[in-house]
Amino acid sequence: MLSRKFLFRNRWAWFLQGLPSFARAHALFQAKRATMTTAVRSRALWDLCVDTAARGIEGAFVECGVWRGGSAAIMGLANKHCGTRRKLHLFDSFEGLPEPSAHDGALASSYSGGRSSGKLETIDECVASREEVEEFLFGKIGLDRLQTEFHQGWFQNTVPADAEGIGSIAVLRLDGDWYDSTRVCLMHLYPLLAVGGILILDDYSAWEGCAKATKEYRAQHGITSPIKQIDSDSVYWIKETQ
Ligand SMILES: C[S@@+](CC[C@H](N)C(=O)[O-])C[C@H]1O[C@@H](n2cnc3c(N)ncnc32)[C@H](O)[C@@H]1O
Repeated sequence: MLSRKFLFRNRWAWFLQGLPSFARAHALFQAKRATMTTAVRSRALWDLCVDTAARGIEGAFVECGVWRGGSAAIMGLANKHCGTRRKLHLFDSFEGLPEPSAHDGALASSYSGGRSSGKLETIDECVASREEVEEFLFGKIGLDRLQTEFHQGWFQNTVPADAEGIGSIAVLRLDGDWYDSTRVCLMHLYPLLAVGGILILDDYSAWEGCAKATKEYRAQHGITSPIKQIDSDSVYWIKETQ
């Protein structure tokens, strides 16, 4: 009983964080129980999605690392709110995080109980099933199934195989925590991001492998777009050149 009250209060706290836009407040309220991000990040996600519509940036919304679908819900609801009919592409194993690798450092190794050989085997953390996410997005949130495409499996397999079918991307949200997960998404999906499109890295300052993969990718491709802080962990930048 107590925990229900606590949850209720929290959802209302998120609602308040979304004001003065009622649509944003309502989206945050709905997404709260299905995301492990913060209200600040969810609010920024809504604003960045809406911003791409205001600037006429074409392309899909893509999330790599969906978990229970809270951030995907915000992206889908922002799409609806703007009256755009973008495709929402969702990549996840739907069996949780794989093992981190040596690039991810001691914290990740300890989080995964010492399993840090980079194997594509679940460490049983951040697990949510595809059925649960579908029920949430199409049932509770009311997104259109036909506008949503699931890419189930390890990014290392699905992202290179499916990238070609995605076309232009307006918002690319990477939330896969580890070095290898971030790297493969940047390699195959960043080239699809439209000029003016937005890359969001949820774990930039939370997991060292995410920042490492990102810094390497920026250096290799001469990317100098300023990195903007959303909160202490999460960042984004706007793609300036092809
Ligand atoms: C931190 S959770 C995502 C949180 C979610 N975006 C939210 O709003 O709360 C990380 C997700 O990334 C997925 N993931 C990480 N690395 C992956 C990989 N290499 N292949 C497939 N899924 C991966 C996990 O299954 C998990 O659902």
